Amino acid sequence: MKLLHTVAELRSALAPGCAAFVPTMGNLHAGHLALVAQARAVAPDRQSSPVVVSLFVNRLQFLPHEDFDRYPRTLESDCAQLREQGHCDIVFAPDEAELYPEPQGYKVQPPAELADILEGQFRPGFFTGVCTVVHKLFNLVQPAHAVFGKKDYQQLMVLRRMVAQMGLPIQVHGGETLRSPEGLALSSRNQYLSAEQKAQALQLSGALRALLAEWRAGLRDRERMEGEAMDRLAAQGWQPDYLTLRRQHDLGPAREGEPLVALGAAKLGSTRLIDNLEA
Ligand code: PAF
Repeated sequence: MKLLHTVAELRSALAPGCAAFVPTMGNLHAGHLALVAQARAVAPDRQSSPVVVSLFVNRLQFLPHEDFDRYPRTLESDCAQLREQGHCDIVFAPDEAELYPEPQGYKVQPPAELADILEGQFRPGFFTGVCTVVHKLFNLVQPAHAVFGKKDYQQLMVLRRMVAQMGLPIQVHGGETLRSPEGLALSSRNQYLSAEQKAQALQLSGALRALLAEWRAGLRDRERMEGEAMDRLAAQGWQPDYLTLRRQHDLGPAREGEPLVALGAAKLGSTRLIDNLEA
């Protein structure tokens, strides 16, 4: 496995249109490793199709009050995990000056109807930051395949649309969310939680499951159901941003007969968690 820090090294190591790419912000856990395994599975021939993993904490997608400075940077243990797993061929870990040698004035602006709702409503500019860095990384890696986790459900959708609308020759794959045996969705931000908060964190997926159960039981007053779900979570000590039932294909409001997804974001103490469940 090669560890590369510069664009020049990356360009000379890779032929265009062959890699299977997993963009990450590092601090890898089993959820990321599952995405890397998926990349290897869609590109099984190591000689012709290297698996590339990027590790880069992207300032552009953080609001000023968010955790950019304290976001864990763990290059050594990330590389050790990837080496041990054995699927990754190239790690691309640029520093900020390498990826943004000058202030990034040109940005990729996703459409408001997809990017200004849910996460975008509570984290304005988040998806512009994500699309800008991912588009840039796509230009550098020029992959044939890219794998993103369904844990960031809206992000996966926004990026799929970006690839389609920009005509990028990349097949985007969604990786299933990995959970702890108790059901907590794996996330780098879980490490901000105390042991007690980790147990409590299961209440978020519990709230999403309850919303889906109400829908399955025939309740259709969606806004009231969502409001009550938020009240219940708030009564358990959370600060919910949203708990909502949406249709899978465009994240519009849930409708009869269409595949649904329940999505939620809420703060537990100072840690903001997101989760979703497809139905
Ligand atoms: O999901 C993430 O880790 C990030 O948003 C991504 C896609 C690597 C862009 O920085």
